[in-house]
Amino acid sequence: MDELLTPRILLRRWQDDDLDAFAEITAQPEVMRWIRDGRVLDRAGAAERLDAYRRHWAEHGFGLYALVVRQTGELAGFTGLAVPTFLPEILPAVEIGWRLGRRHWGQGLATEAARAVVDHARDGLGLDRLVSIHQVGNDASARVMIKIGMHLERETTEPSGGRAVRVYAMDLGVTDRLARGSG
Ligand SMILES: CC(C)(COP(=O)(O)OP(=O)(O)OC[C@H]1O[C@@H](n2cnc3c(N)ncnc32)[C@H](O)[C@@H]1OP(=O)(O)O)[C@@H](O)C(=O)NCCC(=O)NCCS
Repeated sequence: MDELLTPRILLRRWQDDDLDAFAEITAQPEVMRWIRDGRVLDRAGAAERLDAYRRHWAEHGFGLYALVVRQTGELAGFTGLAVPTFLPEILPAVEIGWRLGRRHWGQGLATEAARAVVDHARDGLGLDRLVSIHQVGNDASARVMIKIGMHLERETTEPSGGRAVRVYAMDLGVTDRLARGSG
């Protein structure tokens, strides 16, 4: 599905002209604090990330959506799905994730977008299970995981940087519903 709509949000595929707004978001230290090594991205780094998100869509048929606030048309960040290759011990898995620019925090936007992505993962993609991973300390992200119905599955260390992470998970129940004939 190329677009998902919620009352306040349009989730859509990435466009070439998203780079300015995305680079502004990934240049904010508060936003990047718990992402990888915590460093902000320069414009080239942001462009490289957008290319990677688009390649992921091409490879898997799902990915991270650009998150647009419908009322203003602003690109606020992303929410969507990704294969968490940085944590091989939990593969195969599909991760739900989110990242918003600082001025869009605290309005429930990540949770609203994530719920739409969960519905799509279950009803559109037929996925059985989602995970979500945050660095220990990123309590706002953990809170979104809990609010959308995930449970803590394990704490481990991501191998590339040696950082402690928590893995949350949720069963989407597709298999159960099909077995009951209500899918
Ligand atoms: C994580 C993030 C997407 C949340 O976005 P958001 O739109 O503000 O999230 P929501 O408003 O839907 O929910 C956030 C919840 O966390 C809570 N919260 C916020 N900061 C918190 C903190 N420091 N400690 C504990 N809880 C916190 C909020 O109160 C809210 O919970 P509530 O509804 O029960 O009050 C946003 O903070 C962000 O983009 N952070 C930087 C990028 C990032 O870390 N992404 C996740 C990587 S795993």
